[in-house]
Amino acid sequence: MLFRELNLGKCKTYLIACENSNRAILVDPVREMIDRYLSLLAYCQLRLDDVIDTHTHADHRTATFELKALTGANVIMHRRAPAPGVDIHVDDGETLTVGDLSVKFFHTPGHTPDSMSLYVNGKVLTGDTLLIRGTGRCDFAGGDAGAQYEAITQKIFQLPDETEVFPAHDYRGNTMSTVGDEKKLNPRVAGKTKEAYIDIMNNLGLPLPDKIQEVLQPNQTALDDDRIAFPSLAELNQVRQLSPGDVQTLLSAPTPPLLLDVREPTEYSGELGHIAGSILIPLKELPTRASEIEGHKNRHVVAICRSGVRSTTAAAILTGLGFEQVSNLRGGMVDWNDQKLPVTR
Ligand SMILES: [Fe+2]
Repeated sequence: MLFRELNLGKCKTYLIACENSNRAILVDPVREMIDRYLSLLAYCQLRLDDVIDTHTHADHRTATFELKALTGANVIMHRRAPAPGVDIHVDDGETLTVGDLSVKFFHTPGHTPDSMSLYVNGKVLTGDTLLIRGTGRCDFAGGDAGAQYEAITQKIFQLPDETEVFPAHDYRGNTMSTVGDEKKLNPRVAGKTKEAYIDIMNNLGLPLPDKIQEVLQPNQTALDDDRIAFPSLAELNQVRQLSPGDVQTLLSAPTPPLLLDVREPTEYSGELGHIAGSILIPLKELPTRASEIEGHKNRHVVAICRSGVRSTTAAAILTGLGFEQVSNLRGGMVDWNDQKLPVTR
């Protein structure tokens, strides 16, 4: 196995390759470094099979979609990843074959709902879940400190103590640790109860990263900034969130809401299906096609997507366009399906 961190900085990208078959994957590639990745792959005569993001990043633009366009590699993310264009959605316990290598995925939510860790040949790539002597912050939308504590202690810390730990970030110049060392020395987790951990994480008082919305929203939607005017964080936070059960109840009321699905057509008719009666206008077309539903400005509109992130953006856009009562289906069609509510394809 060839294993290298390629950015040599605070933000880590890992190359993993099978030297027998020359098959390779990249984990958490960064957009500014695409030329370097392609040069190295060519120099080492490796074929890029897959590009994987351990989660939807808030601090850098992902390179996965451009690498897919340039090389034909598959984009792999957790099934709760919000962006369209992901080729393979994976869930806890699934494996990926790369030549002679087997990569196992662990769902390790908390930093984001779609965070996962990857285990291969005695190494675990922990994304922004477990960092070296630290853990990833849980205060962004969808963050959950309790879930992160469970993921670290019940999944990552169940691996053998000698397992090498490679995080997605390190701000102190560390390059690796081990599960055993983190169990003993990680100040946030070692000897801490779940309640104590939640308390620590809720009181970090970290400032939001610069330009978080300018980075996060394109990563969540796979749209470039100039194709859509994204709402502000304040506008997004004002969107009313409804559970799948709430929406199902509203649908059987005498005046049901208008259901607006903002995914891509392939997703609308794909594995998750859609809710009967919903109208499809993909998010990227919403600013120009909102006039098609203008007659419903006074009606309750519920926006729907894969995991509830793109549709929150859509709901904020519609509110900005003067729609009076717009809500979001929380957790999107992933949660709707998980709750076994009816879908059509
Ligand atoms: Fe992150």
